[in-house]
Amino acid sequence: MTAPINPAPGGLAARLREQLADQLQNAGLLRSGAWRAAVAAVPREVFAPEFFRQGSGPQGTVWTPVTPATEGADTLLEEVYKDQTLVTQLDGGVHPGDVGGPVTGSPSSSSTLPGLVVRMLEDLEPQDGDRILEIGTGTGYSTALMCHRLGGDHITSIEYDPAAAARARTAITAAGYTPRLVQGDGLLGDSEGAPYDRLIATCSVRTIPGPWLHQVKPGGTILTTLSGWLYGSGLVRLTVGDNNTAEGRFLPGTVSFMIARPQAAPGLGDISHQLRQPAEMRPARHGPEVLKEWVPRFLAQVAAPGAQYQRTRVAGGPWLTHAIDIRDGSFATLAPDGNDAFLVHQGGPNRLWDDIEAAVDAWRAAGSPPQTAFTLTVNPNEQRVDLGTPDGPSWVLPT
Ligand SMILES: C[S@@+](CC[C@H](N)C(=O)[O-])C[C@H]1O[C@@H](n2cnc3c(N)ncnc32)[C@H](O)[C@@H]1O
Repeated sequence: MTAPINPAPGGLAARLREQLADQLQNAGLLRSGAWRAAVAAVPREVFAPEFFRQGSGPQGTVWTPVTPATEGADTLLEEVYKDQTLVTQLDGGVHPGDVGGPVTGSPSSSSTLPGLVVRMLEDLEPQDGDRILEIGTGTGYSTALMCHRLGGDHITSIEYDPAAAARARTAITAAGYTPRLVQGDGLLGDSEGAPYDRLIATCSVRTIPGPWLHQVKPGGTILTTLSGWLYGSGLVRLTVGDNNTAEGRFLPGTVSFMIARPQAAPGLGDISHQLRQPAEMRPARHGPEVLKEWVPRFLAQVAAPGAQYQRTRVAGGPWLTHAIDIRDGSFATLAPDGNDAFLVHQGGPNRLWDDIEAAVDAWRAAGSPPQTAFTLTVNPNEQRVDLGTPDGPSWVLPT
């Protein structure tokens, strides 16, 4: 593990922090003096002393380590204070200092885009004296911003990954902050420190975890992204009610986070056997674009929450798009019909594409509104996404 570099006193780092604060303020993301002061004070270089830079290779995405050994100190600082996500871990255990050159892998921890971090902190609307529970410490940068704003004794942060948690603890201590840090599953919340005034998640969830509802005080706020296995996502702000209830509206913007690890999609493996199962075929009313556009993809996911996205191609043939629920064997495969439209082949117990098309049709019939038209209602019996009014179209989330 690379030791965190010390915050550069004054000089370049301080200037870059001010520049970043100006940039985020001009973009309308940083809206209050208190959060601006936090951005101007917290040394991001301590939390992300090394990271991966994304690039492309012949086999797809590659990640090149950027460390004090590969980059000059000033260049590293300039990178750290760009409004960009810094990926700090791949595949749940590979860190930049562990590898000698570009590698493949999937991001499993990062320092989130500062513009998104501050936008969410503003959306959380904490008041002086509030106690906050953060899920997904990551590098600890957002934890430190909250400590600066509200005081370390008002902040608890939970990180699932032991290596990330240890690095974050080292960095937070080096930067002089004193939150309560927990290594564990944030889906269980923190019964010891509860009740909290507000909860913010910087990993996404498929459904709102039960413990969050009784660990946040009635009237308190839960701010989280709701995501799933089709990569649909939406940032939602809930007000907690009595008796394990909460409700709220989705907020603007295309916000996504890595999914909470215990809720990650089961591996798809080789799907060829599954796709040879008997199938019904019909012309598709909507094609694969549904799984690429922001709101339709979110709708597809709430309509078919067990489905996963996959594309395949048999040598020389067209690309096929699949939605597959490997838990019950349902699948839908979209294939071009040769006339700029698609045929859909569906098999297994559920007609996934029928459900997805019905959801997209309902949204179009409502005038194709933005995600802010959707609400989430949570009670002990169900979690429901509504479009418009409670008597409009709605979808129940998996429990
Ligand atoms: C995008 S990063 C967090 C960024 C962080 N807030 C920052 O500013 O550096 C998401 C983090 O959530 C963590 N995570 C995933 N599932 C979790 C869970 N169930 N409980 C707590 N943390 C989790 C990941 O290990 C990862 O470090």
